[in-house]
Amino acid sequence: MIEYAPNRATWLNPPPLNKDVTMRKRIAILDYGSQYTHLIARRIREKKVYSEVLPTSVTAAELMTNPPLGIILSGGPASVFAEGAPQIDPAIFDLGIPVLGICYGMQLMAHTLGGKVEPGAEREYGRAVLSIKEQASSAEETADRTGIFAGLPASFTVWMSHGDRVAALPQGFETVATSANCPYAAMCDEKRRFYALQFHPEVVHSEHGSEILANFVFGICSAKPDWDMSTWIDETVERMKKKIGNDEVVLGLSGGVDSSVVAVLLDKAIGKRLHCIFVDNGLLRKNEAAQVEGMFGEKLGLDLTVARAAERFYAALDGVDEPEAKRKIIGREFIAVFAEEARKFAHCRFLAQGTIYPDVIESSAKPGNSQTIKSHHNVGGLPPDLKFELVEPLRDLFKDEVRSVGRLLGMDAELLDRQPFPGPGLGVRILGEITAEKVRLLQEADARVQEEVKKLPNYKSIWQTFAVLLPCRSVGVMGDQRTYEYTCVIRSVDSIDAMTADWTRLPYDTLATISSRIINEVRGINRVVYDISSKPPATIEWE
Ligand code: XMP
Repeated sequence: MIEYAPNRATWLNPPPLNKDVTMRKRIAILDYGSQYTHLIARRIREKKVYSEVLPTSVTAAELMTNPPLGIILSGGPASVFAEGAPQIDPAIFDLGIPVLGICYGMQLMAHTLGGKVEPGAEREYGRAVLSIKEQASSAEETADRTGIFAGLPASFTVWMSHGDRVAALPQGFETVATSANCPYAAMCDEKRRFYALQFHPEVVHSEHGSEILANFVFGICSAKPDWDMSTWIDETVERMKKKIGNDEVVLGLSGGVDSSVVAVLLDKAIGKRLHCIFVDNGLLRKNEAAQVEGMFGEKLGLDLTVARAAERFYAALDGVDEPEAKRKIIGREFIAVFAEEARKFAHCRFLAQGTIYPDVIESSAKPGNSQTIKSHHNVGGLPPDLKFELVEPLRDLFKDEVRSVGRLLGMDAELLDRQPFPGPGLGVRILGEITAEKVRLLQEADARVQEEVKKLPNYKSIWQTFAVLLPCRSVGVMGDQRTYEYTCVIRSVDSIDAMTADWTRLPYDTLATISSRIINEVRGINRVVYDISSKPPATIEWE
């Protein structure tokens, strides 16, 4: 099973700088590898301020090519004492730009600016009560407070997760908050506008975390809440027009949210000079290929080539039952079919991809990343004779931002609210050998699952719901007939990012309807079971 856990060692393998964005006003976040770094970026973007995650190797000079309004140093797993621990260009502290250090960012700040950091007696993990120093003790007086804790009560609960801690403040700093285990839970140098927090304001367990970040972004950095998706669309369409000029673009359309939004966006920018290729690998959901054709080819009138390659995939998969082998074959065939079609568009200068921000960060550790069809398709690079330059208009957006762009572009909610669907499709949901008949059975079962879960009021909060076909058969009875048919598993999970997941507590009535519909309507399946495993230790997909 290919692991999709985002790379926790981004600080060792920093993502490339995004040179493809305009000179947007921004808060820069230096990523020291915390699992919460992207949450900081999200929290700030939610306040309509653009924020960008940058590698820790960024220099003061590089930052100043587009001077940020503020700089945040994220948390991270390292200790400032460890060999090779990520550092900061000290000149960044001379730029006159406000800096907020969080957890490791605080320790790094103290360490770099002449304070002292020491290993804590033990790791502090969990909730702690923060007491703001020499400030009002009653909530009524909070309005007078200024700086990072402006408007907040004198004490509240925050989320700590650290080993080392600051033991002596650098010159110019004062303590602004303490906790039971941490004499320097927050420090600041108001004059230079440097602030540091030992806790994580970005996580929901920290009370007032959002206000603390707002104080930094608006109060201290004077940012304006002017980042919104309609401006982004106008800006991006202009940027694409300029970049592409009179050249042409080929796009691999998968039917998923990201590549679909790219298609509509590029259609707006360059119209008929966009050529979309959709590969029907025979492992898609029921009617999916027809839906993509209907939507993009007929309704939107894009230039769409559909490569009908189901038979080719089935032939290549014939007799193969080992999961990794199946994935590799599907990946290999995909690239071969796509390349064959793309060769017909070899006059195009550009290849567009639906890469989104989390992909940029997650795939940064993988070398040779520049010419791959989104790593989620589990394929290597295109053959060397196909020398396209990449355009990735969604590179700086999070998934829900992509969805808002799609909504603003007038795309169907049904398409935009789609659950994730794996690149190898039903290939990883038919256990063992894949045959056309099994694909048909699973498509029929899955269609019923989709129809029923979409009726649930909380459908949008479910991460994924799907059916899996087991390779074994069992005995049943239908009318007076003995049956000997396949078993279908229903899998439904709740998750934030697919790294961990819990099984959805689907209502019994929904499960009952799904079960009876599949058994009554899909000939070949006589038993339906519900998967109640969480991830870890199970994975979301079965292969
Ligand atoms: P697992 O099964 O690893 O899945 O818990 C985590 C998430 O990733 C999706 N997934 C894939 N997506 N190609 C993809 O594009 C794949 O090979 C693949 N394998 C798993 C899965 O659907 C879930 O959302």
